[in-house]
Amino acid sequence: MDKTFHIVTFGCQMNVADSDWLARALLARGWRQVAEEDAWFFVVNTCSVRDKPEQKVYSELGRLLAHQRGKPGLTAAVGGCVAQQIGRGFFERFPFVRLVFGSDGVAGAPDALDALAEDPSARIALLDFLAAYPERQDVLTPVAAAPAFDADQGEPDAGPAQAFVNIMQGCDNFCAYCIVPYTRGRQKSRHPDAVLAECRLRVEQGAREITLLGQNVNSYGLDPASRGGGAGVGFAELLRQVAAIPGLVRLRFTTSHPKDIDPAVVRAFGELSNLCPALHLPLQAGSDAVLKRMGRKYDRARYLGIVADLRAARPEIALTTDLIVGFPGETEDDFQQTLEMMERVRFESSFSFCYSDRPGVASARMTPKVEEAVAKARLNRLQSLQNAITKESLKSLEGREAVVLLEAKSRKQDDGPSFWRGRDEAGRVVNLRLDGVEAAQPQNAGLELAGLLVRARILEAKNHSLLGEKVGQPW
Ligand code: SAH
Ligand code: SF4
Ligand code: F3S
Repeated sequence: MDKTFHIVTFGCQMNVADSDWLARALLARGWRQVAEEDAWFFVVNTCSVRDKPEQKVYSELGRLLAHQRGKPGLTAAVGGCVAQQIGRGFFERFPFVRLVFGSDGVAGAPDALDALAEDPSARIALLDFLAAYPERQDVLTPVAAAPAFDADQGEPDAGPAQAFVNIMQGCDNFCAYCIVPYTRGRQKSRHPDAVLAECRLRVEQGAREITLLGQNVNSYGLDPASRGGGAGVGFAELLRQVAAIPGLVRLRFTTSHPKDIDPAVVRAFGELSNLCPALHLPLQAGSDAVLKRMGRKYDRARYLGIVADLRAARPEIALTTDLIVGFPGETEDDFQQTLEMMERVRFESSFSFCYSDRPGVASARMTPKVEEAVAKARLNRLQSLQNAITKESLKSLEGREAVVLLEAKSRKQDDGPSFWRGRDEAGRVVNLRLDGVEAAQPQNAGLELAGLLVRARILEAKNHSLLGEKVGQPW
């Protein structure tokens, strides 16, 4: 069988980063990344955070199964959080699945795929949790790849100048609603030398922006697995070391748990000029009673205190968040307090979802459950408020200047051929007209603009993005 593969990714940026690494590792071993219809091996990287993304995985596999009827021998590998949860169950349910791997198993997936290509009857499960961060063999292989991406949440289509670098795996927090500690295992910090080596290599290969990734980056280095490694480097220190890499223009990180944010990290926003003025700080709920039942270990007052400190350190910082509505026992009054927190903090944007029962988590046993219709109505109210705040905060940027990192040509047809999409320092999407610039480089249809920075003036705020014009030449 041809060593041709196609990757479909669901879930968070950790999954996107895992898929990206897997693609690079396979390319380095002589595999070819091809369009879906030409591939013999499908990798489906899955998410289990709510019921809906889990169901999407089954419908995706059902679709591939239909495809496989005309192409016997076609093989699927299921990775990520649903793979960890269901494990070998996939072999019975979908016989063309011949590999399942969890997040600690990703490191072994390239060898496993090679073995499947050699032996068409083999089946492999890589589901064990490891004691320390499993360093990946081919991580420093310099091959550029763009894996297919189907975002359930998060930001698709990062440009060639943006790199995502894992700093840890797993989570020890066991928030009452969350399946992640079960699907990703205990927290394991990666050795800082390995993080720095990967960041340096990515910058040498052309990355101008790096996003450090972990489920709870603020507790980097605090887990027993990393203490064993003798690193003794906390998150604030790691940020400093990465920020100092010559040529790195933008540094971001996600996700932050409010309970662990260190004052030194807050200060870093005022001290490190290439640390972007943006922070995703999941609030989850605005009522102290609900936060307590969620096991979040902070209250409204503490959250607001962190927000005030962040704004003192970096006044222009853009805050975004995650919110859950309809957590078991949430009353109308609790929900009002979530609305109120949204008004007070004025998040630039947020991901918000109805609470979804997950197998085995603590809140699955909590009652009373909020009726679906009530939760949906609350979600609509929350999202309308967010939309209004987003619009106002984008509007306030009209007339200002921003530096935009160009990502790709705009996909919207009606934008015209020479519109480019990029992001400002805070991560807001900015669309720009760049006719003159492209005319100067007709032979390569504009591809080479991706990764360049351009100074822009903001002309107009759209619902979720900005429209700008360039005020200088890209560099
Ligand atoms: N580690 C990150 C979150 C990872 S999960 C953090 O702690 O912030 C991403 C988001 O999914 C969470 O922030 C939460 O808002 C949402 N989520 C997790 N479990 C959920 C559930 N059972 N129902 C609804 N939303 C959930
Ligand atoms: Fe889930 Fe909480 Fe861990 Fe985030 S910190 S991954 S919400 S358990
Ligand atoms: Fe989903 Fe697993 Fe990420 S459940 S959100 S892919 S950690």
